[in-house]
Amino acid sequence: MNAINRLAAVVSLASLLPLSALAAEPGTVEVTHWWTSGGEKAAVDTLRKQIEQDGFVWKDNAVAGGGGAAAMTVLKSRAVAGNPPAAAQVKGPDIQDWGALGLLTNLDDVAKANDWDALLPRKVADIMKYDGHYVAVPVNIHRVNWLWINPQVFAKAGAKVPTTLDELFAAADKLKAAGFVPLAHGGQPWQDSTVFEGVVLSILGPKGYHAAFVELDEKTLTGAQMIKAFSTLQRLGTYMDPNRAGRDWNVAAAEVINGKAGMQIMGDWAKSEWTAAGKIAGKDYECVAFPGTQGSFAYNIDSLVMFRLKDENDIKAQNDLAKVALEPAFQTVFNQNKGSLPVRQDMDMGPFDACTQKSAADFKAAEQGDGLQPSMAHNMATSLAVQGAIFDVVTNFLNDPKADPAKAVKQLDSAIKSAK
Ligand code: GAL
Repeated sequence: MNAINRLAAVVSLASLLPLSALAAEPGTVEVTHWWTSGGEKAAVDTLRKQIEQDGFVWKDNAVAGGGGAAAMTVLKSRAVAGNPPAAAQVKGPDIQDWGALGLLTNLDDVAKANDWDALLPRKVADIMKYDGHYVAVPVNIHRVNWLWINPQVFAKAGAKVPTTLDELFAAADKLKAAGFVPLAHGGQPWQDSTVFEGVVLSILGPKGYHAAFVELDEKTLTGAQMIKAFSTLQRLGTYMDPNRAGRDWNVAAAEVINGKAGMQIMGDWAKSEWTAAGKIAGKDYECVAFPGTQGSFAYNIDSLVMFRLKDENDIKAQNDLAKVALEPAFQTVFNQNKGSLPVRQDMDMGPFDACTQKSAADFKAAEQGDGLQPSMAHNMATSLAVQGAIFDVVTNFLNDPKADPAKAVKQLDSAIKSAK
């Protein structure tokens, strides 16, 4: 075969191949996140599968550790090394700090093509923007102020589902007397502060909570009600398993699921564990607002920030991830697994269980007044530096049964001041 004939053979062979075989390598999207419990892995798998179905490669950068502190350390060191992933779970005010570093990409085209401004609540859309441009996509709305209950354990102990703090302590006493762990808990700073913020919301109400954790108001932080919040936290500590240090939140959830413990104070990602264990809301378990916070909704919005990439195919994969995250089918199946509410406002809530439907109704009601508040323990209310200062004070306090609540409020105020 001479050169011309060889070339003709190659060309005609090529015409037989599907276009995709000639195209360049499919793009890869690497995602840093901390969804590693059984239930949460099931949720994130729904995203991976969709990305793979769309013809892209999903590279998983899961960093274990509830609350995400370990994942944030990994993300920072990768960014410093000039090697950030395509997407990472970054939330709340922290998005602004990443935006200011100039490392995030502009998602306005995807947002416009998919009508994000119309789909998202204004408050949510604003959090996702830096300097007026979308740099992140939200996937859900978690409610943090929940109490998870095993009704069989409650029945055995003769305990009643609590609606006030007094009733919570009465139920805890019954559970203790019947030989159960009243409150399942993992001794990690973010879990300690998850309990603390519930107590603050209950005692100070949504306005006081806002003054404390959003405005960082000195008078509120050091006032009598905050002292009461610390002493209530201390009392709650006496119903927690003393061997709780370092325990993961999903291990604590399993204690309630398996009937060793009666209750857990945790955000609704805890529902992902009940779902993964095949349990049904309203039948096998109860979800009630943390006692005294019925009209309030401490929100925690998971979002993925997107970093600037060079490779065109990887950018296509990244844009696909951004688009998929807000598609109705994904919003349904992901949030059914994750325990959260869809972040889109136009969703059919029919396929969701009793807890999520209650959450949706509570969100709407809280939105009408002051009830909707950003979660301090889940990066929505303050900078991570201020949050870290609060975590330290709260965890040191809870780990010292003799700690003085009146001293704790002063420590809280001064730790916040130096972190600001
Ligand atoms: C939160 C996060 C949730 C869940 C939880 C436990 O901060 O928003 O999605 O992962 O931590 O790790």
